[in-house]
Amino acid sequence: MLQGKEIILGVTGGIAAYKAVELLRLLTKAGAGVHVIMTASATEFVTPLTFQTLSMNPVSTSLFNMISEREIGHISLADRADLFIIAPATANVIGKLANGIADDMLTTTVMATKAPVLVAPAMNVNMYQNPIYRENEAKLKRHGYRFVEPAKGMLACGWEGEGKLQEPQVIFEEAVAALTRQDLAGEHVLITAGPTREELDPVRFISNHSSGKMGYAIARAARRRGATVTLVTGPTCLAEPCGVETIQVVSAEEMRQAVMAAFPASTMIIKAAAVSDYRPVARAMAKIKKTAGTLTLELEKNPDILSELGQIKGEKVLIGFAAETDDLMGNAAKKLAAKNVDMIVANDIGAEGAGFNVDTNIVKLLFRDGSVEDVPLMGKQELADLLLDRAVKLKS
Ligand code: PMT
Repeated sequence: MLQGKEIILGVTGGIAAYKAVELLRLLTKAGAGVHVIMTASATEFVTPLTFQTLSMNPVSTSLFNMISEREIGHISLADRADLFIIAPATANVIGKLANGIADDMLTTTVMATKAPVLVAPAMNVNMYQNPIYRENEAKLKRHGYRFVEPAKGMLACGWEGEGKLQEPQVIFEEAVAALTRQDLAGEHVLITAGPTREELDPVRFISNHSSGKMGYAIARAARRRGATVTLVTGPTCLAEPCGVETIQVVSAEEMRQAVMAAFPASTMIIKAAAVSDYRPVARAMAKIKKTAGTLTLELEKNPDILSELGQIKGEKVLIGFAAETDDLMGNAAKKLAAKNVDMIVANDIGAEGAGFNVDTNIVKLLFRDGSVEDVPLMGKQELADLLLDRAVKLKS
């Protein structure tokens, strides 16, 4: 995802400096080359050796280190960078940057770079609310610096409030977004994911094996590409994607209501959820007791949300999935026509590495003009981007 990208990670002196280690790990795991610059006070919290070992690059700590100046040179580092992240960023470093002070390796390199700069502040709540700090932040924003707003919570100083460094995963997502073409800016993508549950009684339900991985991957990709994203999800074990409005539902009827409420504002809708086609006619109020004979359940049809959207879609791009165990193309083609969608993602869920609860998928894309695209085995995150590429094309 970040292969070939050069990132400078600036670490300043705050107790949250330890979280920069995890951020570094996420960045390198995604394929980025990371060069760490630490301020003198940052080295009081975490040793340069930790960053050096994990980044496999020398860590710069001093402006006047002649060896590293010869080997890397802060100007060449500033030139090469695709992105500059400062995490944690203290009020002090933000104040210096806002006022053009470049008196150490970190501030000098930031001043010299043309790369986008992502600042993740961490400080005491009173410092964060101080009007001088607010002016400095506003000034940097005016100059194009991006900020990852701090979280609220218990701060190291014992105070409670805003000022806590965001989680490394959140900063990582913002970094990926900063390096991603924003071709979905202005779009509002509505995505469904996961299974639905239809309750039989207080302890049992009808459901399926959907993990939500496919839909969540689409939500993450759309957000990274600049879209406003609403994710309507059935019960899963996945963490809510950063920066995405996530609406948790349980049954198909609840999913229908949430989708219909989000539909008017949306411009693209992608329905990856595995919705139960049937639900019990009546939910028992008490646990159904075991009896001697067989048990017959009476089921009624759930609303077909995708079909309903197909009736009212207008100019919106509408994409459905088809999970099939047999006659993949025949069944998918029928769904394309019957549900009035722009594209069907046909999923042969019997194939190895495809379908439910795996990290990969194999699909065929069916379009209204009769064309079909074969998509070989690939990671769901990669497939998510490919599906969004097709959605963009369908829009134009
Ligand atoms: O969640 P994962 O573990 O990552 O697995 C991914 C997946 C296999 C669930 C996904 O790739 C997939 O194929 N999703 C569609 C599953 C499905 O229910 O397919 P279907 O053929 O039954 O439904 C066709 C389409 O109509 C789907 O877009 C579905 O969301 C929609 N539908 C179905 C029934 C219903 N009552 N309302 C609907 O909107």
